[in-house]
Amino acid sequence: LRAELLAEVEQAGDLEALEQVRIGTLGKKGRITERMKTLGGLDPDARRAAGQALNAVKDAVTAAIETRRAALADAALDARLGRERIDVSLPPRPEPHGRIHPITQTIDELTAIFCQMGFTVAEGPDIESDYYNFTALNIPEDHPARQEHDTFYLQPDAEGRRKVLRTHTSPVQIRAMEKSPPPIRIIVPGRTFRSDHDATHSPMFHQVEGLVVDKKTHMGHLKGCLIDFCRAFFGIDDLPVRFRPSYFPFTEPSAEVDIGCSRRGGELKIGNYGDWLEILGSGMVNPRVLANAGIDPSEYQGFAFGMGIERIAMLKYGIPDLRPFYDSDLRWLRHYGFVP
Ligand code: PHE
Repeated sequence: LRAELLAEVEQAGDLEALEQVRIGTLGKKGRITERMKTLGGLDPDARRAAGQALNAVKDAVTAAIETRRAALADAALDARLGRERIDVSLPPRPEPHGRIHPITQTIDELTAIFCQMGFTVAEGPDIESDYYNFTALNIPEDHPARQEHDTFYLQPDAEGRRKVLRTHTSPVQIRAMEKSPPPIRIIVPGRTFRSDHDATHSPMFHQVEGLVVDKKTHMGHLKGCLIDFCRAFFGIDDLPVRFRPSYFPFTEPSAEVDIGCSRRGGELKIGNYGDWLEILGSGMVNPRVLANAGIDPSEYQGFAFGMGIERIAMLKYGIPDLRPFYDSDLRWLRHYGFVP
């Protein structure tokens, strides 16, 4: 019996099999246990001898099981360590990285250009009062320019006043002039809202406003500043820039700025090709606007400009449709080089 049981212990291939051998030998109905039960039927001398022999077998088997268990556990641990070995020389898995949004990239680019000219960045709220968005900018209640703005109105407050989602960044001109005295040299990139939606209009879009106020600021400063900006932004040193008379209630005189382009074969190219493309509005700050903001127009004058950020980004990168700017489609982002 002893040899037979020890052989079984040796043959157990894993811990589970060994446990089965233990149960079959030392368990409640195991072979040694069963034999122990038969000892009661023997006479005392035979019982003692058989008992001692059986106990010796039991001890030997118990010891053998323990030894075998330790060996199997060692082997299992070795196998696991082998399986789980880490190859520290493997290259890391590539991780996708987030990128700056194309609109933010464009804001960063134009901010860098204006900062080199001495401008600082200012901000204002997206939700404006009617006063800042219109009235202070010389657009009174009955002015036709109000209709052109496709304004989003919020629910009226207790006094019946309706706030608006700002239709342009120009209200920040007023806020800046109220906040600190001239000289002022700021640009204001930010969100703007108009109820308009097609391939080139989105109800939410971005503008950058510019405002310079000082004692001797004149139209020449406006022209020099915007010509330099256009050439730097589009990266074309000889880019033609044209100032075309226009009208805005908050500037006088006003000028829209056109840059040179070509439209041959339906494809738009920026550069010196003989055709023109409008890119921004500008003008000398209307003296009434200075006065509205508490600045003496007999002492100070200024110029202001405003342009659509999506629009200039579309022109710079040759993007025909505005809507994908807000889709985060990786194929589109890669195609235009916004993501490597
Ligand atoms: N606020 C004007 C617009 O949204 C742009 C502009 C800004 C024009 C400043 C002149 C001066 O169309």
